[in-house]
Amino acid sequence: MTFREKPGASNRPSSNGEVKIVSGRSKPVWEYAPSTEAKDHISLKNRYDLFVGGKWVKAKKYFATINPANEKKIAEVASASKEDVNRAVLAADKAYKNVWSKLSGKERAKYIFRIARIMQEKARELAVIETMDGGKPIKESKGVDVPLAIAHFFYYAGWADKLQYAFPGKKFSPIGVVGQIIPWNFPLLMAAWKIAPALACGNTVVIKSAETTPLTLYKLAEIIQEAELPYGVVNILSGAGDTGSYIVNHPKVKKIAFTGSTEVGKIILRSIAGTDKKVTLELGGKAANIIFEDAPIDQAIEGIINGIYFNQGHVCCAGSRLFVQESVKSLVVKKLKQRLKTLRVGDPLDKNTDVGAINSKMQLNKIAELVQSGIDEGCTIYQPECVLPDKGFWFRPTFFTNTAQSNRIAQDEIFGPVLSVLMFRTPKEAIEKANNTPYGLSAGIWTDKGSKIFKMVSEIKAGIIWSNTYNKFNPASPFGGFKESGFGREGGVHGLKEYLQV
Ligand code: NAI
Ligand code: MG
Repeated sequence: MTFREKPGASNRPSSNGEVKIVSGRSKPVWEYAPSTEAKDHISLKNRYDLFVGGKWVKAKKYFATINPANEKKIAEVASASKEDVNRAVLAADKAYKNVWSKLSGKERAKYIFRIARIMQEKARELAVIETMDGGKPIKESKGVDVPLAIAHFFYYAGWADKLQYAFPGKKFSPIGVVGQIIPWNFPLLMAAWKIAPALACGNTVVIKSAETTPLTLYKLAEIIQEAELPYGVVNILSGAGDTGSYIVNHPKVKKIAFTGSTEVGKIILRSIAGTDKKVTLELGGKAANIIFEDAPIDQAIEGIINGIYFNQGHVCCAGSRLFVQESVKSLVVKKLKQRLKTLRVGDPLDKNTDVGAINSKMQLNKIAELVQSGIDEGCTIYQPECVLPDKGFWFRPTFFTNTAQSNRIAQDEIFGPVLSVLMFRTPKEAIEKANNTPYGLSAGIWTDKGSKIFKMVSEIKAGIIWSNTYNKFNPASPFGGFKESGFGREGGVHGLKEYLQV
């Protein structure tokens, strides 16, 4: 690829803890000393079996999960076979019939609260493991992933004995065994989004982690054991796509909750067509982040940065298409360049790191391929100078100007730290362009005028729209998409309905 660092440049942090001036770049710059999060307090096994029926169950095959920041193996995890999935579903079915569906909401709430409280006690450990297994900056796993995951357990624990107020005058009952399949970008958080409402509503769970990030789910299994959740209420598996398809196709699984690619979402829909299974799909996105000329520009720059470089851009609702009003375009691009130069790419365990490692080699190749297509199609690339570590999977924060809506980088979900900058003149044009995508998950609007926000919100086809902020999450607010971004909502009262027959 053409975008590697210049030889001779050196911005390695100093080891003596002092701020130093780095040479070898066009201009000397001030560097931070490293501030690495300790990892001596975490406990990890060398090998994780499957968590089925409240016990650890051996599998026939195991695979390694690595740290994408140094390519070192962290642990081995079980690959669940068809028989293993069957065992987990039967355990969940038994727990549903004998225990969980018979407990009062108040009793269910006690267990869910207990899980949340133990997670709080282990928050630092969970954060460090999330960062090691997936490559995201520790400041994000500590400040976003883990607290939000805990908040979801607390929030839905609160609903467990109040469901009659969520659906006044309606009759409702749990669904039974639910199958949940999650992606690698927010492992623990996606598990919480799915497990907490399922349990609150009286269902039991078989959940599968993604290939590259199984570890925090197994830590959650330990927490579930410590909380003395009745055996079989939550079963946790690891494995690849075929394990996922065994869950989807098991006749005793009555509902599927999936977050991942649109491609796999379509496979799941096809395979359950004609069955009575309920399904929610949370798929990809290509969100428009729209900056009007009357926006607070400096604040908007932070929103653009957060929108696309948060979690290396491995975010389904990432603001990956930036629409800037013509009159402020050169100003925004200039400020964006300046801000990109200050982003710190490197060791995810360093508390100063802004952009961590790309989750896997496969994802890195996908990002590189799409970026190359942008170059080949004549778009102008910008990447700040920064030295990338030798080992591990890395990609510089990147944006493209001279971009047309027809370019692949403006159409396809890149799922990496890559922004396409586009331009508009009128609100009408912004709406048309924002909606010109098969996706409809999220959007951002930056303007000083409330009336403009209302107009845009009513006409942009997206499940979540932020105004004058971006990537803000709360367990009380529903999340989900339109069009090829999927259907169904997670979070809030809406999220309860997906786990009940109302
Ligand atoms: P994926 O959709 O293949 O994987 C997501 C989960 O689905 C994983 O747990 C995987 O094991 C499972 N899975 C795979 N095939 C399955 C099947 N046939 N039946 C049931 N479960 C199955 O996503 P992948 O390959 O990890 O990433 C590919 C692209 O998808 C990314 O580059 C990104 O663009 C997009 N993506 C979007 C996500 C989102 O949050 N919207 C999350 C992950 C990926
Ligand atoms: Mg890993």
